[in-house]
Order: sequence, then C-alpha cells, then structure tokens
Amino acid sequence: MRQDHLVAAGQLSRADVERVLDRAAEFDAALSAGGGEALPARYPETVLALCFYEPSTRTKMSFETAMKRLGGQVVDMGGVDASSVSKGESLADTVRVVEGYADGVVLRHPREGAAKMAAEFVDAPVINAGDGAGQHPSQTLLDLYTIREAAGLDDLTIGIVGDLKYGRTVHSLATALTEFDAHMHFVSPESLRLPRSVRFDLHEAGAELREHTEIDDVLPDLDVLYVTRIQRERFPDEDEYQKVAGEFQIDAETLAAAKEDLTVMHPLPRVDEIDPDIDDTDHASYFEQAHNGVPVRMALLDLLFQNHE
Ligand code: NCD
Repeated sequence: MRQDHLVAAGQLSRADVERVLDRAAEFDAALSAGGGEALPARYPETVLALCFYEPSTRTKMSFETAMKRLGGQVVDMGGVDASSVSKGESLADTVRVVEGYADGVVLRHPREGAAKMAAEFVDAPVINAGDGAGQHPSQTLLDLYTIREAAGLDDLTIGIVGDLKYGRTVHSLATALTEFDAHMHFVSPESLRLPRSVRFDLHEAGAELREHTEIDDVLPDLDVLYVTRIQRERFPDEDEYQKVAGEFQIDAETLAAAKEDLTVMHPLPRVDEIDPDIDDTDHASYFEQAHNGVPVRMALLDLLFQNHE
C-alpha cells in the first residue's frame, strides 16, 4: 500500500488489496498453528489508539486483538461519555493529543468525513473504522478476504442487500469490488438505494449498476449474498425506518432457489435479516467473516506501520 492512512476503499488498488489479503492469509495460518514461534512479537514498542465515538463490538475488539497478536499495545479512549469529548473537545484537538500517546489511530465517528479530516491533523496512520454513513474500508478488506476464501474474487456475482443508502460497509465494498470487475446486484427498497456519490464512483469505474427491489430476481445467479442491517440510527425519522424495517429476511425458504454453494455474508450485527436456522448450513459465512477481522487487521496494521517507519 502506498498510503499512510486508510480512510476510504477507493484508495485501494487491486494490488493493494491482494497484498493485504496475502499477508492476512499468512497471519491466519500462523494463528491457526497456535501463534507462538509462527507469530513472533513484531511491534513490542508500538501503541495503537482506539477512538470510538459510536458503539462497536467486532471492529474495536478485532483491532485490539490484532494489535496484541502483533505483540503491540492498545490505548482506548473509552466511550464518548467517558472522554473529554463530553466536555466539548473537538475531534481535531483529540486526535492531535492522542497522536502524542500512540503510533496509529483507529477512528469511528458518526460524521461522514471525520477520518479524512482527522488524517489531515496527524502524521500517525489513521484508519477509518466507520464514518457515519460514509465508509468502512477495513471491514471491506475482511469482506474481500472472506469472499476470496469462500468463492474467489474472479468472475464473482454478488448480491448486496438491505440498507444501501446508509450502510457504510456497502459503500466501501462496492467501490473495492470494481477493482475485481465483479458483477454486482444491488437489492433494496426504493428509498434505500445507493447514494449518488457511490453511484458516481461505480459509474466512473465502469461498473454496471444493476438495481432490484426483490431478492428472488437475482438469487439463483449469485455466488455471494451480502446482507446488511437497516441502519436505524441514521434515519432522521423513526416513521421512515418503520416503513422499511424487516423488509428483507433471509430464511431457508428464501435460499431454496440459491446455488448449492452460495455464500451468505453479513457484517453483523444482525437484527432480523438472517434467520438463525441458516447459521448451521454451509451457506453461512458471517461468523467466519467476523473472525477474519483479526488476521486481516493484523495485515493492515503491519503494512501501515511498515510504510510509516
Ligand atoms: C457495521 C458498521 O458499523 O458499519 N458493523 C461492523 O463494523 N461490523 C455494520 C452495521 O452496524 O450494521
């Protein structure tokens, strides 16, 4: 990777992605072999700061685990209420201070553009762990790793379903998949179609925009079905959320027409989008996907820290 920061998936070329995924596969193998000799402490002097202004389970914990597996340390800002943010401190001031404590900053923030802005104020690598309804590029890397393992990234046909308007994982994933010439089908209620900025990026990349309102129209063609949660917290109006809540629920009946080796993914958390009955089928890859966060984030941190040396 050429960049010091990772704020959007559009920064990543196909070669960048492949480099991270190949490195992740090495870490994955070392972790499966039980760490130890296979995983010498690489960063004993390095500290990663976790600044999460929004709730997180997977992203925060997998970054923390990744850093610790690399032999490094983490400092955690704690929630917004526990930090000086509640005293009115600006994001720019916070990251400038945090840079004095740590060698890299992982930032999740409710405002779109927050990570890009933060990256302008500090030299340490900034990783966007979600900026409002914007981007979530490290999630994309683990999504791509999961897709590569399950279905391969060549000649891929993927259906991306749910909240395409506010779902930041979708925005990053769709952009990154243009590097692989994937056939993408976007399935959502009319009111939750991809935002104009993402449509524009796809158009610029020469990707065909195939939009649908019913899963059944595309399901039989898919290698991967990427399901997302309706992002309730981003709706300006609860009534608007209620109109689309529960719109897509995947169960055994939905999947009856699917290819036998269809891979079902979800960035999690799920609310009611995937029936737990699917969990024990060969289709379900979402827990594996979440676990892949560790080796993939190890690879990402390793490459960013190497760039920064
Ligand atoms: C996603 C997010 O925060 O955007 N979660 C995650 O990081 N795995 C998806 C979501 O919250 O629906």
